[in-house]
Amino acid sequence: MFELVYNSIANPNLTAEDITNILNTSRDFNSKNSITGCLLYHNNQFLQILEGDKKVVQDLYLSIKRDKRHSNVNLLTEGGKKERMFSGWSMAFQEFNSDTSAENSFLSNIIVFSELADRPTQAVDLFWIIAKNMMID
Ligand SMILES: Cc1cc2nc3c(=O)[nH]c(=O)nc-3n(C[C@H](O)[C@H](O)[C@H](O)COP(=O)(O)O)c2cc1C
Repeated sequence: MFELVYNSIANPNLTAEDITNILNTSRDFNSKNSITGCLLYHNNQFLQILEGDKKVVQDLYLSIKRDKRHSNVNLLTEGGKKERMFSGWSMAFQEFNSDTSAENSFLSNIIVFSELADRPTQAVDLFWIIAKNMMID
């Protein structure tokens, strides 16, 4: 099992439809290729963790890097690990841009979750630390 974490800056013209398209492509490809992970989108920033077979994850990261819907794609960490953390999630996603109370409560939940979540590897640890910093910015 291999995992990779990166962040990036969303294209300023990104629409809700772009996000839907990204998620549809991701869930389709990822479920067929045993890729799991989580994508966060907040204040025009993306943070994503991908896990799966090393070659599949690295090839996917190369196509993600070329994607014009974001820029400044920055590899934070990558490496091998024993187990999946996001099994069952072909790509978990949450957006935190509007101010509704449902989103606010999700936001505080994810901040709590970022403190309580299992952190079996450095990549997962880093993912949650950056997720929390991104949310409270
Ligand atoms: C922030 C972001 C995250 C993405 N995550 C995934 C993903 O998890 N899985 C996936 O198949 N495509 C993902 N994509 C889409 C890929 O960048 C790309 O569109 C897809 O791999 C098809 O590439 P191709 O047109 O070069 O074949 C993501 C795109 C962006 C902008």
